Amino acid sequence: MSVPTRRPVLVTGGAGFIGGNLVRLLRRERPRWRVVNLDKLTYAGNLESLSDLREDPGHVFVRGDIANAELLEHLLRRHAVDAVLNLAAESHVDRSILGPGIFVETNVGGTQALLEAARQAGVRRFVQISTDEVYGSLGAEGRFSETSPVKPSSPYSASKAAADFIALSYHHTYQLEVVVTRCSNNYGPYQFPEKLIPLMIANALEGKKLPVYGDGRQVRDWIHVEDHCAGLLAALERGTAGEVYNFGSDNEWANIDIVREILRLMGKGESLIEHVRDRPGHDRRYAIDARKAREALGWQPRIPFAHGLSDTVAWYDKNRPWWERVRSGEYRAYYEKNYGAR
Ligand code: NAD
Ligand code: TYD
Repeated sequence: MSVPTRRPVLVTGGAGFIGGNLVRLLRRERPRWRVVNLDKLTYAGNLESLSDLREDPGHVFVRGDIANAELLEHLLRRHAVDAVLNLAAESHVDRSILGPGIFVETNVGGTQALLEAARQAGVRRFVQISTDEVYGSLGAEGRFSETSPVKPSSPYSASKAAADFIALSYHHTYQLEVVVTRCSNNYGPYQFPEKLIPLMIANALEGKKLPVYGDGRQVRDWIHVEDHCAGLLAALERGTAGEVYNFGSDNEWANIDIVREILRLMGKGESLIEHVRDRPGHDRRYAIDARKAREALGWQPRIPFAHGLSDTVAWYDKNRPWWERVRSGEYRAYYEKNYGAR
């Protein structure tokens, strides 16, 4: 194994779904970089997802909160961090509807604390990982570009939009090299089974009902997590400071069609589908125009959905202990609260 030589990058939220996949991609694609991984280990963070990196001297895990200014100052200076990729967040729309406060604390307050610490410590570059949900909802036509109005509708997306603006203000005001990325819905291994695709796979594996909100005709634009992570590396290395880049895979699906496809891949019947009360304020359709990232960053998604989805179904089948363990305790209480009254 090569010894890391470059000034380290700090990945926050690296025990979560996208962060963990990103840490792994960075260690594979840029083996000379040391990756410092700061994660609070909330319900969504899981060190088991990083067990293959336990012996890796190029990966340093630190448990802590991105809102903790003292810890950040110490960490950034001690490791002489060159760049930050901020993925730490409360990330689930349904939880933001049940309790928005922590979304503002972490996604807005935490991001500002991290930006400030980065500025004070002389960090060169800061990539703020955001979401297409900041653009709000589309009708039947059109796609979001980087110049679409920012019009978030859920407490989650509103907190992410606020963080984007604060991050960009640190570029405008203090010349910190901030790049903002906005990606569409991710799927793939290690996604917490409260999000649509892993929830449906896990429920089907356990013979439970598959709760589809409302008519199930809401549309999401799905991208494999590894394609997103490749885009984040491209944004870090080639993005222009002060710019926003959208990532997406031209892969729109109505929720009900994805659920049917998952059942088909698993050889299960559609009688498991149960239409439940719709999500309050449910965004009808997201669709991303990623031409800017393709042209300016030389990035493109590579994983066809048919392969990615069947590999993901196979991954959840093979890794039952990983998701069975997280579907206990706090998860059960959340599930009861979110689905109990529907
Ligand atoms: P996730 O919920 O799986 O992981 C979030 C991680 O952040 C967890 O490990 C959690 O422990 C950690 N965390 C939470 N609060 C923290 C805090 N205060 N300090 C330090 N760590 C904290 O989320 P994800 O799906 O991997 O999303 C990662 C990022 O990507 C988020 O910023 C999200 O908004 C963004 N994003 C997600 C998607 C998607 O489809 N999942 C799409 C676009 C953008
Ligand atoms: P989700 O994975 O929570 O992502 P987001 O809300 O950020 O797009 O949900 C994806 C879509 O699936 C969304 O339209 C809500 C819907 N959905 C259901 O129909 N049932 C469910 O149990 C969940 C979790 C989501």
